[in-house]
Amino acid sequence: MERRDVAAKFHFLRFKAAGSDGIRLTMESALTARDRVGVQDFVLLENFTSEATFIENLRKRFKENLIYTYIGSVLVSVNPYKDLEIYSKQHMERYRGVSFYEVSPHLYAIADNSYRSLRIERKDQCILISGESGAGKTEATKKILQYYAVTCPASDQVETVKDRLLQSNPVLEAFGNAKTLRNDNSSRFGKYMDVQFDYKGAPVGGHILNYLLEKSRVVHQNHGERNFHIFYQLLEGGEDDLLRRLGLEKNPQQYHYLVKGQCARVSSISDKNDWKVVRRALSVINFNDNEVEDLLSIVASVLHLGNVQFAADEQGNAQVTTENQIKYLARLLGVEGSVLREALIHKTIIAKGEELVSPLNLEQAAYARDALAKAIYGRTFSWLVNKINKSLAYKEAECPGWRSATVLGLLDIYGFEVFQHNSFEQFCINYCNEKLQQLFIELTLKSEQEEYESEGIAWEPVQYFNNKIICDLVEEKFKGIISILDEECLRPGDATDMTFLEKLEETVKNHPHFLTHKLADQKTRKSLGREEFRLLHYAGEVTYSVTGFLDKNNDLLFRNLKETMCNSENTIINHCFERTELTDKKRPETAATQFKNSLSKLMEILMSKEPSYIRCIKPNDAKQAGRFDEVLIRHQVKYLGLMENLRVRRAGFAYRRKYEIFLQRYKSLCSETWPTWEGRPHDGVAVLVKHLGYKQEEYKMGRTKIFIRFPKTLFATEDALEIRKQSLATKIQATWRGFYWRQKFLHMKHSAITIQSWWRGTQGRRKASKKKWAVETIRRFIKGFIYRNYPRCSENEYFLDYIRYSFLMNLKRNLPKNVLDKSWPTPPPSLYEVSQLLRQLCMQNMVWSYCKRISPEWKQQLDQKVVASEMFKGKKDNYPQSVPRLFINTRLGTEEINPKVLQVLGNETIKYAVPVVKYDRKGYKARVRQLLLAQNAIFIVEEAKIKQRIDYANLTGISVSSLSDSLFVLHVRFEDNKQKGDVVLQSDHVIETLTKTAMSADKINNVNISQGSIKFTIGQGKEGIIDFTSGSELLIAKAKNGHLAVVAPRLNSR
Ligand SMILES: Nc1ncnc2c1ncn2[C@@H]1O[C@H](COP(=O)(O)OP(=O)(O)OP(=O)(O)O)[C@@H](O)[C@H]1O
Ligand SMILES: [Mg+2]
Repeated sequence: MERRDVAAKFHFLRFKAAGSDGIRLTMESALTARDRVGVQDFVLLENFTSEATFIENLRKRFKENLIYTYIGSVLVSVNPYKDLEIYSKQHMERYRGVSFYEVSPHLYAIADNSYRSLRIERKDQCILISGESGAGKTEATKKILQYYAVTCPASDQVETVKDRLLQSNPVLEAFGNAKTLRNDNSSRFGKYMDVQFDYKGAPVGGHILNYLLEKSRVVHQNHGERNFHIFYQLLEGGEDDLLRRLGLEKNPQQYHYLVKGQCARVSSISDKNDWKVVRRALSVINFNDNEVEDLLSIVASVLHLGNVQFAADEQGNAQVTTENQIKYLARLLGVEGSVLREALIHKTIIAKGEELVSPLNLEQAAYARDALAKAIYGRTFSWLVNKINKSLAYKEAECPGWRSATVLGLLDIYGFEVFQHNSFEQFCINYCNEKLQQLFIELTLKSEQEEYESEGIAWEPVQYFNNKIICDLVEEKFKGIISILDEECLRPGDATDMTFLEKLEETVKNHPHFLTHKLADQKTRKSLGREEFRLLHYAGEVTYSVTGFLDKNNDLLFRNLKETMCNSENTIINHCFERTELTDKKRPETAATQFKNSLSKLMEILMSKEPSYIRCIKPNDAKQAGRFDEVLIRHQVKYLGLMENLRVRRAGFAYRRKYEIFLQRYKSLCSETWPTWEGRPHDGVAVLVKHLGYKQEEYKMGRTKIFIRFPKTLFATEDALEIRKQSLATKIQATWRGFYWRQKFLHMKHSAITIQSWWRGTQGRRKASKKKWAVETIRRFIKGFIYRNYPRCSENEYFLDYIRYSFLMNLKRNLPKNVLDKSWPTPPPSLYEVSQLLRQLCMQNMVWSYCKRISPEWKQQLDQKVVASEMFKGKKDNYPQSVPRLFINTRLGTEEINPKVLQVLGNETIKYAVPVVKYDRKGYKARVRQLLLAQNAIFIVEEAKIKQRIDYANLTGISVSSLSDSLFVLHVRFEDNKQKGDVVLQSDHVIETLTKTAMSADKINNVNISQGSIKFTIGQGKEGIIDFTSGSELLIAKAKNGHLAVVAPRLNSR
């Protein structure tokens, strides 16, 4: 895009001037998205001082299930009260090692950022998670731990540590969490957990600090609340055997300490399942069976203690009425039953070195019993934390390089609490929050200021409320509320909660953040009870009732009960109650002082680390998903100091980024910085913002970062980038497509050329080898031809083979088709003999196969034809005409022969009959006769009369002319008297008739073929002559010379 173009669009977006529809649309879509889901960092809110805008942004995001939003580097989290799909392994991977601002706000971003600072800068880190009860602090802590467990490097040993870190949670929650009205799994203690990482970044150890367990819950619960989970878990999940050993019944209703809140069962909690989880977790964190048994004995003993009842004797002194419970307690706690019983109803005071034992009245006894229950449970809880710490401890000996371990702390501590009735606990909790707020302000302001200084930008003082004044009110020596409380607890005489209040009024009456009924003006007074005092915390007013303050602060446990516990055989109890406590003259520290000291230690710990913040907000009191209770949220926004936080963050500049990152993101908006800027990033950004037309007051250039004062400047830049991205995307797409197709084309071209050249090569080689072969063959041929007549030798063997081969192949193709086919390929001289042999073989073969196919009738026909051929071939002119005509068995059927003749012939079979013409011997008159060939004789028949019989034996010969006529003469033995002489006959089938006759009479060799004339005998020595001549047509007549003259037609074949 042209430089002028971008600038114009940029300005267009800044001032929403009219422009092309496309641009407006893009701009609007970006803006509506921002409208819909809000901004992901509150510092980008234009109206950053408006609480309404702040809450509106939270609301928009909450509706879209975007529960996380930043204020700079602080994460604000709204409890969704439903499972969102944002904690999967894939999500963890998405945040791993990625810069904070590249991905949408998430717990994992904070976790990863801290972890990376820890690794890169080797600086201890802490993540402070705060918010009111039910806001999601504990869940956040667990999710962060899970994140580290999944994403940090691991080894076998590390795996165990990871397991223990994760498994410490269910155990601590079982003993330290309870269902309250606000949260079904409310942490009733503060927790600070250090995770130690080795130089490779693997978690190798951990340590937990616990703060102020709400012990009062052990003996009393408000309506709708429960005691600590472990009691219900044990009763619900404990095996029968275990419960029997502990003397417990499955029903929680049996125990006074469990029924005060009247809700032993909660639908959202499965005590049975949780029990299993806890049992498993206990073994992971190194509890052996004895320890588990001792621990559960203590849990059971608290329940039994709750059921210990008293009755007053005549003097009004308390007596134990529930012996059974004492028995169980004695067994479970490993103490003498009687000693315990006495300790429960007496109090020992040491005055002036003397022990004074006095009985307790009913009220005192109940107090003592409850105090014991609280003490047992409270100390066991601390023991449990220590035990977990031992299992999490980073074993120096096992892990060399301990020195290099860095620590990441997670603080999950109770948030600011305001109830209808607020007591000592709320006082401590809210004091804790004041301290944390102070730390927060100090650290954020400090870091903000440090950043400005390091960037060389003038520091502009920020107006914010410093709550140090409230912290002082609570903790100051001599003048602070805790000091006064302690003083009241320690002073001799009748100190009561009310005297404490009076003392307070006296000491801090002028403090602007302190108020009591007495000190208040008329109007406010109504809202304050006489036993109450009000503190104006940074987060709002809280009215505390002093009732119970002294007791709770004293945390008194009568000496004789302590003593009894010191003698306990239960190892845990024995551990928790040390003998030194009895002998120590110094009074133990009060609860408030202990708390104050532990907080001050905590502040030290936190100050030494680089903090990150997660501010948890609870969207409604009903634990309902999707409900955004604005009043409740506004309240939390206020007391979490989020607006303050935002103001501090926005005091100077809304947005800051390292030059490299800023340039990288926006360089495409300026042709001079796009696509790469060669110079320093600082200069590049300067060129870029000048190009974008940033005004002087809108930004400042620090040493390593650019600071942008107003979000709108950034948004305009973002929107311009959005448009630019689209045109860039199109360009990149087009370029990419071009590149892609060109690559594809080049690839295909290359492939085609390769294939072509390969193919050409192959073809060329084939052609060359063919040519070579051809030359070789021709040469061999020529040589072979030259040497063809030599005996077989290397010079001619190919040629000869070829000749032989081609002759044989040719022969194979041109073999004679039948016996008559005389064709035969001409053999080369060298194969002449072979050819002859083959020809014979072939002929034999053909003949053989022909013969095999011949039928008997055909054989007979052929025999006759052969005989005919032998007799007449080349001798008689009309023989050729007879060749194609088949001989017929007989020319006359039996029906054509007179029956009389047949009768006369009797059993002589007639082999052949033919009509003939007989020429008389004398006049040569032609007469129609039938010639019959029988077995032994020839019969000449006229109608019914056999005119002549010629036995074959008497037939001496047959004469016939060589011409085409059909006359023939049967010569008969002269001596045969019966004969009248030779017979002259004519048959239309002369060849057939003569052949059959000659064959029947076996006179084949007696057939004469005469050239000119035939002589024949006409009885008694007389002779007749037939003269044959050829002429144009057949003529048979008696000539003048008395001969029979036959003119036979000339045939063409002759
Ligand atoms: N990120 C989350 N996703 C889904 N549900 C959540 C989330 N955070 C909290 N919750 C729900 O809110 C309940 C209360 O959360 P959690 O116990 O963490 O509150 P808390 O701030 O630790 O309260 P307390 O101060 O009482 O200990 C959880 O039991 C869970 O049901
Ligand atoms: Mg919690």
